[in-house]
Amino acid sequence: QELDAGGKYVLPGLIDSHVHFRTPGYEHKENWESASKAAVAGGITTVLDMPNTDPYTDTTERIRQKDKLIHGHSLVDYGFHIGVVPGKLHPLDGLQQEHAASIKLFLTGHRTARNVIDLDADLETIFRLAAQRQIPLTLHAEDDAVLHLYRRVHRTPNDLASYELIAPRSGAIAAVSRVLRLVRKYGTSIHVLHVSSEEEVDLLETAARAGYPVSFETTAHQLWFDLESAASLGTKTKLSPAIRGKRDRARLWEAVRSGALTSVGSDHAPHALKEKAVDFSEAPPGLPGVQELLPVLLTGLGRHLPELSRDERLSKVVSLLADGPANRFRLNHLKGSLRPGLDADIVIVDDEQVWEVGAKDLYSFCGWSPYEGLPLTGVPLVTIRRGQIVFDRGQFGKFDGRTLSYAPTPVATFEQVSGSPFH
Ligand code: DOR
Ligand code: ZN
Ligand code: ZN
Repeated sequence: QELDAGGKYVLPGLIDSHVHFRTPGYEHKENWESASKAAVAGGITTVLDMPNTDPYTDTTERIRQKDKLIHGHSLVDYGFHIGVVPGKLHPLDGLQQEHAASIKLFLTGHRTARNVIDLDADLETIFRLAAQRQIPLTLHAEDDAVLHLYRRVHRTPNDLASYELIAPRSGAIAAVSRVLRLVRKYGTSIHVLHVSSEEEVDLLETAARAGYPVSFETTAHQLWFDLESAASLGTKTKLSPAIRGKRDRARLWEAVRSGALTSVGSDHAPHALKEKAVDFSEAPPGLPGVQELLPVLLTGLGRHLPELSRDERLSKVVSLLADGPANRFRLNHLKGSLRPGLDADIVIVDDEQVWEVGAKDLYSFCGWSPYEGLPLTGVPLVTIRRGQIVFDRGQFGKFDGRTLSYAPTPVATFEQVSGSPFH
């Protein structure tokens, strides 16, 4: 079959390393087939799914079961983050690096997140095991209430030592400071999820510069919205962590510009409209966005980093949505940049086409988008996964996506982080 990509950009298939596709247990919100359609329509060929399903994906047996349910129903290739539940760490005993892309921890959480790990002893065990097994940790680290309190009391400090001093009182910062000590102790590699605040970016950048094996992502919606623009959307933009202010958003874009940010996830976390149609305090946090990830990032790049050329914008997309996550999660079969010998994951993008987002264009089962009515610029036309066309302007290919495997994540040595201001 011939494809004409004249005048278009050819990019590596995109990787979304943070999705909640809701299988099993929450199929009234989303199902794997529809979510994977939304993904390939968004130029994504690979996803890493989060463990907050029902049952919680917290054992290798449950990963196997989830894999079995998805097999034959996925347009994208897929991998899993494994969860841990407080007081039930024994499933980690048998965990090997080939089982999971990462171990996902909630260090803080919305009141509906039952699985916050906050005992020092549990954290020590998890950090030690992850390092031993050469598996990275992914962390949900922010606490909205405490961050607000912290902001009233403190200015933003810029060095790790002062973070450590204020750590016991500071929410997001407290959680991250606390784990940095464990990173230094065990050499565990960590990736902090959906970073949303200026303070957290400052802290993580400083730690990375000091040689800590830390990286971080933000999400498309945190790059797009701020408190003001999200306000009119009500519960649709209720999230954990929350959408923050303009200054935070500017700091996130600065991390995109500088290259400090490793990846942008969609954090595709759909809820039924009916579930969102309640009081703000009662609404579940989370929104869909896997199909909109590339268009939102491309449009945002044009708006927030106008000094970048067209090629530079596309290079940022490749680094944040392909190379960054591929390298971070050491995805085997060389998912990421286009190089000879790879498995032909390709997306053809028209970076000038305008998409006025409408409910009728969405493939997610939840059927809504926080971007509805907006014009976004930059649309995937054709998505090829392992040499097969899985999306071509509204037509879909075979649901034969495969499970990924992962290479070991090296453990940092004490020397590598000995430049630490904690001394
Ligand atoms: O906003 C969120 N939604 N934050 C989470 O931590 C969970 C997620 C979901 O699964 O709905
Ligand atoms: Zn989270
Ligand atoms: Zn998430």
